[in-house]
Amino acid sequence: MARGKQERTEQPVVIASNRGPISFSLDGEDLVGRRGGGGLVSGLVPLVEEGRATWIAAASSTADQQAAEEGDGIATADGLSARLLTIKPRIYSDYYDVISNSTLWFVHHGLFDLTRDPSYDTDWWDAWGNYRKVNSTFATAIVEHAPRNATVLIQDYHLTLLAPDIRAERDDLHLVHFHHTPFAGPDGARVLPPNAMQEMLRGLAGHDACGFHTGTWSSNYRATQRRLGNRDVSTFEATLSSDLASLQRTAESDECISARAELEDLAGGRRIIARVDRMELSKNIVRGFDAFNRLLESRPDLRGAVVFLATCYPSRENVPAYARYRQEVLEAAEVVNDRWGTGSWTPVSLMTDDDFPRSVALLMIYDVLLVNPIRDGLNLVAKEGPAVNQRHGQLALSDQAGAFAELEDAADEVFPFDVAQTAEVLGRCLDREAEEREFRATQLREIVNQRTPADWLRDQLMQ
Ligand code: G6P
Repeated sequence: MARGKQERTEQPVVIASNRGPISFSLDGEDLVGRRGGGGLVSGLVPLVEEGRATWIAAASSTADQQAAEEGDGIATADGLSARLLTIKPRIYSDYYDVISNSTLWFVHHGLFDLTRDPSYDTDWWDAWGNYRKVNSTFATAIVEHAPRNATVLIQDYHLTLLAPDIRAERDDLHLVHFHHTPFAGPDGARVLPPNAMQEMLRGLAGHDACGFHTGTWSSNYRATQRRLGNRDVSTFEATLSSDLASLQRTAESDECISARAELEDLAGGRRIIARVDRMELSKNIVRGFDAFNRLLESRPDLRGAVVFLATCYPSRENVPAYARYRQEVLEAAEVVNDRWGTGSWTPVSLMTDDDFPRSVALLMIYDVLLVNPIRDGLNLVAKEGPAVNQRHGQLALSDQAGAFAELEDAADEVFPFDVAQTAEVLGRCLDREAEEREFRATQLREIVNQRTPADWLRDQLMQ
């Protein structure tokens, strides 16, 4: 029986994602569980709290596995429960490190240097087989545990193959996929072997609908499907926004207040250019420091008058390309400091540990926030910054970030490959008169506050 859109918002829900809402670590012998951050968790968790949704995720560490085993498959922490699937480490690493992070992420973000990479060998095809295997483990768990007529919200590039397997067993389920990253258009998609790409596109077409943060990625997806002759795929656009209430709670925390004092100390009353990112190739961190270098070169008046405070926290450190990039980022920051630093002024302070309250503190006090990704599905920082900033901070935003489509009227457009232009934009943002700064910052905040994570969730449930 066909179910109407309104009705589906009342159905039980199953969420499937690689990373679950809770994760565990070991403190000696003790398991310590905590809730994850970010928009995805804050958008979806209310459903779990209401008891309407079951969350299925991978147990991605031995501590996660232990927590799952102790709870007979279900782990609980911080008032939240999730079914964590135990997967053999070798298989998990092929699925997560090799395929999800080193292949699909690179394809969708256009990160390969095609003169060298990728190069598909039998190891890669074995890894693809294990990616398929993990997808089928998720499919089996969904088939087994989803309540009748549930809506299944399947999240991201880790889980693209499972829909046909679910459909074969459970035609009562409504399957919605949400792709958080960009999607490669036909030209970028040719970098994946045709068989793998076809398998992925067939898998995605097996959903009732596939969602993206912005129109560019959904039209890329449709164009890539069309290339394979699939003209009839259903897509939707639903942008995620920052979770203001939870940001405000963090902003008021003791940790954030003391981090703010430390950052202000570091700035020593100077203007602040900031960035808050994972240590991640697509974020374009090296070009950001190069641009700052050029800014100081062309603007002697800014020497000693501005600092670049950058928090770049660890990400996917198992992937060799990420480890190499981290090194390049450290070197790029050092180049600026060696060239321009004085006894009383360190131009760049780069903080590489994971400290969320400090990141929020930095977002509260920047004068200019640089968000210059090569490509980004959305970039939540571009929204979180304007939401919490207290200094009428300006947003220098890459035209390749999904968030650009919403924020372009009030942000300053950055072309991520053009460091000279990026430098000029940073200078323009710093020079702007107070009145216009306030106008733009207010406009940014208004746009960001138009949506909440709950709106994004509802958009998925209405498909
Ligand atoms: C970013 C991306 C998401 C992705 C997530 C996975 O947040 O925007 O699309 O799902 O990374 O990160 P992880 O640390 O789990 O590899």
